[in-house]
Amino acid sequence: MGDRLVLLLSLLMSSSALGMTSCFFDGQRALYRACNLTQVPQVPSTTKSLLLSFNYIRTVTAVSFPFLEQLQLLELGTQLTALSIDKEAFRNLPNLRILDLGKSQIDFLHPDAFQGLPRLSELRLFFCGLSGAVLKDGYFRNLASLTRLDLSKNQIQSLDLHPSFRELNSLKVIDLSLNQIPLVCEQGLEPLQGKTLSFLKLADNNLYSRVSVDWGKCMNPFRNMALETLDVSGNGWTADITRNFSQAINGSQVLSLVLTHHIMGSGFGFYNIKDPDRHTFAGLGGSSVIQLDLSHGFIFSLNFRLFETLKELKVLNLAYNKINKIAGEAFHGLDNLQILNMSYNLLGELYNSNFDGLPKVAYIDLQKNHIGIIQDQTFRFLKQLSTLDLRDNALKTINFIPSIPTLFLGGNKLVTLPKVRLTASFIHLSENRLENMDNLYFLLQVPHLQILILNQNRFSFCNQRYAPSENLSLEQLFLGENMLQLAWEAGFCWDVFKGLSHLRVLYLNNNYLNFLPPGVFRHLTALRGLSLRSNRLTVLYPGDLPAHLEILDISSNQLLSPDPDLFTSLSVVDLSHNKFICDCELGTFIHWLNRTNVTIFGSREDIYCMYPSSLAGNSLDSVSMEGCNEEEVLEPLKFSLFLLFTVTLTLFFVTVLAVTKLRGSCFICYKKIQRLVFKDPSLGREPDSYKYDAYLCFSGKDFEWVQEALLKNLDAQYSDQNRFNLCFEERDFVPGENRISNIQDAVWSSRKIVCLVSRHFLRDGWCLEAFSYAQSRCLADLNGALIVVVVGSLPQYQLMKHQSIRGFVQKQQYLRWPEDLQDVGWFLNKLSQHILKKDKEKKKDTDIQLQSVTAIS
Ligand SMILES: *[C@@H]1O[C@H](CO)[C@@H](O)[C@H](O)[C@H]1NC(C)=O
Ligand SMILES: *[C@@H]1O[C@H](CO)[C@@H](O)[C@H](O)[C@H]1NC(C)=O
Ligand SMILES: *[C@@H]1O[C@H](CO)[C@@H](O)[C@H](O)[C@H]1NC(C)=O
Ligand SMILES: *[C@@H]1O[C@H](CO)[C@@H](O)[C@H](O)[C@H]1NC(C)=O
Ligand SMILES: *[C@@H]1O[C@H](CO)[C@@H](O)[C@H](O)[C@H]1NC(C)=O
Ligand SMILES: *[C@@H]1O[C@H](CO)[C@@H](O)[C@H](O)[C@H]1NC(C)=O
Ligand SMILES: *[C@@H]1O[C@H](CO)[C@@H](O)[C@H](O)[C@H]1NC(C)=O
Repeated sequence: MGDRLVLLLSLLMSSSALGMTSCFFDGQRALYRACNLTQVPQVPSTTKSLLLSFNYIRTVTAVSFPFLEQLQLLELGTQLTALSIDKEAFRNLPNLRILDLGKSQIDFLHPDAFQGLPRLSELRLFFCGLSGAVLKDGYFRNLASLTRLDLSKNQIQSLDLHPSFRELNSLKVIDLSLNQIPLVCEQGLEPLQGKTLSFLKLADNNLYSRVSVDWGKCMNPFRNMALETLDVSGNGWTADITRNFSQAINGSQVLSLVLTHHIMGSGFGFYNIKDPDRHTFAGLGGSSVIQLDLSHGFIFSLNFRLFETLKELKVLNLAYNKINKIAGEAFHGLDNLQILNMSYNLLGELYNSNFDGLPKVAYIDLQKNHIGIIQDQTFRFLKQLSTLDLRDNALKTINFIPSIPTLFLGGNKLVTLPKVRLTASFIHLSENRLENMDNLYFLLQVPHLQILILNQNRFSFCNQRYAPSENLSLEQLFLGENMLQLAWEAGFCWDVFKGLSHLRVLYLNNNYLNFLPPGVFRHLTALRGLSLRSNRLTVLYPGDLPAHLEILDISSNQLLSPDPDLFTSLSVVDLSHNKFICDCELGTFIHWLNRTNVTIFGSREDIYCMYPSSLAGNSLDSVSMEGCNEEEVLEPLKFSLFLLFTVTLTLFFVTVLAVTKLRGSCFICYKKIQRLVFKDPSLGREPDSYKYDAYLCFSGKDFEWVQEALLKNLDAQYSDQNRFNLCFEERDFVPGENRISNIQDAVWSSRKIVCLVSRHFLRDGWCLEAFSYAQSRCLADLNGALIVVVVGSLPQYQLMKHQSIRGFVQKQQYLRWPEDLQDVGWFLNKLSQHILKKDKEKKKDTDIQLQSVTAIS
């Protein structure tokens, strides 16, 4: 009801907010809510629903409504004035099924108001200011189809049913909650005898608690009745009241007894109100109770044989009490109990005997207690147990865990898992403190495991004491919000997913990942869904994603310029909140994005440029790639320029050719002479405190080339003739140590850092990382320790794409690897001088090969 009202109100608000009237007829429904009506409007005779709430209708009489044969629903509730309902007011609506008068203040209701409604099945009279007379005086006579009667929130103070209730053979649901009925006795409900009600709600009436009850006179209010659900919540029942009531209804069937928000129990630290004992519910023994809800109370101790007589009980809800003690044999007699809910209590420890006497229990819910310790045998003898919920407790070990299919252990204090024998198909372990990935390998070996939830742990290192087992049954693995980056960057546990050939869903979100170990997903042939959300990935390489992946979430990463070919197998992808570089190179991606039939999840607005700053925040859809085919545009112009200058240039070249062709040989001659005549200045340099002369930082993919071109000519270990003690990852990094700290070491223990910026370098997150470290050292030392050599024909905008490199090339000079082979010797000499150059020496190089780049926007 509350929900319905909220809905009504929001409908009202939205329609007025939008300035729309909702006063119209749409074929079957006449929507006249909040239309300032003072009387029933004229509507077509085909109307099936007539909605008239929030109006000013004061009176309805027998002539208020036109004859509406098809009308089934009439809403007349929430009138903004008092409403009076006259004799046979609805008789022109012979097929009315639902009549809603809720929340209208009814100041006059004629005893014959509801006559002439043979089909009426639901009558809503909540919050209408009605008194007990409405029950006593036969207002509901002849409503042969009446099934649901809602009289909640009125001012009914006594329950004396008119004899005509006896004829209401369809009646199933009566809601009398939130009235002021202090007493319900056998005589008052006598007309209901012999009936079966599916729901009788007597909650929140102070029933039996405000007056002292003479049960000898009152007798059994439900005599000869069968109730599927009886709700007597919120009546302030103590254990004594409950005992007297249970005894009084001895023999009447109540399949589900709802007794929440009671005041039974001493609570925590109080002793004046009793906990229920073995007599409290004893009287219910003959009522065939199958469900008993005692949640939201103050029970502190579950006493000896508390539920002894409830042999048929299947569901017992004790949630939200203050249970701290379970006495011996507390559950004795609950031979058929299947679900025991003791969540949100104050249990601190569990003992072997606590659950004795529950031969059929299948589900025990113990979440949100303070359980720190559980004796080993506590659950072992519960043969039917299949689900154990121990979430949000304070467990530090799980030695007691039985081999059952479903285990909830999230939100505890588990740091490591003992080597217990486990068999389970579902294990929930999120929000613990697991750190060592050995625990993950251990869990992956649990037989029959299908779903494993490990979010919000601290997986960050790995001893790799286990080998991955093959062909595991696992289908879903949740590893979000861990720190797998730390384990993987140390080079360990790259095979963790190796045996998971049945895995379909994998969550790796929020793991600080800035790279994916090569081949880490290679064995996941069944994987269909992968979340890499909120990591720090800048690139995806071909082969990084599993072959048959269909759904990929890679939002909130740092992808710069992804290759659309990576996404060919997908049907859905989320690419929002990355750091796309909107330059010509992104053209293929943008084109793909516009044309692909892969569903792009989320808003297009969230797929935006990060660089260059002039486009930052612009949606990729709005970025134009025109102008990227510059070469085509300029073709004619180029051609004429070509014609114009060819002749001049040819002449010039002929002259210059002789000189340039021989300049390499000239340089070598010059060096030889220099070496003969002068002592090489560098040989006399004084040793300094650095371990290496230079840290050579380059992409692994360039290694072959670097070895040929640089290492063989400069590094002392390659040849005795070379004088430099160089450092590079492939040789000098300490294996097994964290890559970042290796890079840091190298940066700080070398006099210079030479970054060989190639295409590969720009795509390699580690290289960019090293570059940033080198730059931060420059800042710290205020020197020119960083030497940048641009290799290959990298256009400047490519360099400008990366923030740190852009910062460098805008302010400082960099070297370019010579395009002509014969210049290499000269270049290496130049580079050597740079490496040898003392710190804080002002750079002053006028050589043509050293390019000074002015800032490009
Ligand atoms: C009802 O009356 C109020 C106040 O006179 C007015 O603001 C509102 O627009 C009227 N609503 C309709 C649906 O006519
Ligand atoms: C319960 O019944 C007993 C015996 O009839 C009576 O003495 C006692 O006052 C009753 N308690 C309450 C709370 O009604
Ligand atoms: C319930 O009624 C039966 C007889 O119908 C009687 O034997 C039994 O003692 C009663 N139980 C209680 C608790 O009054
Ligand atoms: C136990 O009660 C809590 C609180 O009402 C509820 O959230 C939980 O779903 C219940 N457990 C079962 C197994 O019904
Ligand atoms: C993998 O396990 C499934 C059952 O889980 C089995 O049917 C299949 O034969 C196994 N395959 C291999 C290669 O062991
Ligand atoms: C897109 O749709 C076409 C035709 O419906 C289909 O041939 C093609 O394989 C689809 N492409 C992708 C990537 O799903
Ligand atoms: C997307 O494709 C449509 C035609 O399919 C084209 O009109 C539009 O300009 C394209 N948008 C972009 C941003 O490429």
